[in-house]
Amino acid sequence: MNTVAVVGIQWGDEGKGKVVDLLAADAEIVVRFHGGNNAAHTLVVDGRKLIVRQIPAGVLHPQTVCVIGNGTVVDPLALMGELDNLRSHALLTDPKRLKLSYDAHMVMPYHGAIDRAREARLAKAAIGTTGFGIGPAYEDKAARIGLRLVDLLDFKRLEEKLKRNLADKNAYLKAVLKAPPVNGRQLIEQLRIARKRLLPYLCDTALYLDEAIRAGRKVLFEGAHGTMLDIDHGTYPFVTSSSCLASALFAGAGVAPDRLRAVLGISKAYTTRVGGGPFPTEIKTKLGQRLREEGEEFGAATGRPRRIGWFDAVLARHSARLNGTWGLALTKLDVLSGIDPLKIAVAYEYRGQRYEQMPPGRVLLDRMRPVYEELPGWHESLEHARTLANLPAAARHYLDRIAELTGVPIAMVGTGAARDATIVLRNPFAV
Ligand code: GDP
Ligand code: IMO
Ligand code: MG
Repeated sequence: MNTVAVVGIQWGDEGKGKVVDLLAADAEIVVRFHGGNNAAHTLVVDGRKLIVRQIPAGVLHPQTVCVIGNGTVVDPLALMGELDNLRSHALLTDPKRLKLSYDAHMVMPYHGAIDRAREARLAKAAIGTTGFGIGPAYEDKAARIGLRLVDLLDFKRLEEKLKRNLADKNAYLKAVLKAPPVNGRQLIEQLRIARKRLLPYLCDTALYLDEAIRAGRKVLFEGAHGTMLDIDHGTYPFVTSSSCLASALFAGAGVAPDRLRAVLGISKAYTTRVGGGPFPTEIKTKLGQRLREEGEEFGAATGRPRRIGWFDAVLARHSARLNGTWGLALTKLDVLSGIDPLKIAVAYEYRGQRYEQMPPGRVLLDRMRPVYEELPGWHESLEHARTLANLPAAARHYLDRIAELTGVPIAMVGTGAARDATIVLRNPFAV
């Protein structure tokens, strides 16, 4: 199959970056289609760790072209920093390898200021956003006052639009949010630098992708965040501000629906989430702390400790259905070594009633009690396991049960953070 999407099926940080990096060995083009630098995807190769934020995680492979699609929100200042960092690793030095959509909206410093001030005001009721201005940038897109990368072409007009926005945003920041305003003059100077730096990368990426797919080139679409953070199908309002489903790529990359061949859903062998919101299988005991330490569960974007829980098959079924998942890549199985027994939520219970599916609107999710099934654990390290046969019988049984409960075959299993610490059962590009 030539076109494959990788999407997170939990609350983000499932290990999408690692899987994208692995699959990108076979891809010619890797595409981001939503979100911005709220995403943080970790790559570990030859003992070296790299975190990519806005640049697709296929960047380590020298043959790949990295595309940032129209559905993303690009922070031009952060992007320049990311490009500098990649360059210091001798990566992405050829400008032909990066293509930025003219239509992608820009995240401005006032978006970040509004995001952070609103969160501070919400105090205990905060969403727990990354604070990078993602929500306010998407709000401006929908309100039709956003600034797009194409606006960099005519700087004079950009300045006019920016001044208009700044007047509104600074008034709101000062009067309503009681936060300091954003310095307009400094921002214009920063954008002048960004203009020079980013113009060479601008491209009609939808057209580019259409031509590439027609020519039979292998294209990998890299989802960010996770299905439970999707603005429609996630745990609203504790979600991000973009659609996180595979279907978002049709609008967010400008690719027609019949072009996509397979969706690979990425899930941890347990569950994590960063920020607020319901989490039925959350483990609040010392075991959660142990998993957090052994799994190094600290947010790659903000360093916040991730909340930890058991694998939730109700959630996984919900996400698998919404994404049309062809296969499941189950990461971090190695982290579960030594935990016996293991638990999987197979349903929820609320006021004596059993729920096999997510409750409508996910509104009652914080009151749902998981119905657990216990499975035997294993004690062996999985560090060196590279085939299913290398896994202890209990680990194989755990995988089989997840495949059965979700109705999705396991395509890959993660046994460590490194690229090669993976059991590949079905590679969608090889089918
Ligand atoms: P993403 O946002 O979905 O790309 O995931 P992150 O990179 O934010 O978080 C996943 C974390 O798990 C990273 O630190 C990865 O290096 C790590 N990781 C991914 N797969 C595995 C695995 O199979 N085993 C272990 N131990 N770590 C993994
Ligand atoms: P990757 O791509 C984990 C979460 C934030 C917060 C909520 C809203 O690395 O999986 P936002 O800044 O988007 O308005 O925050 O969404 N969130 C993520 N959590 N991984 C991510 O991305 C996330 N992107 C957003 O923690 O709860
Ligand atoms: Mg992440």
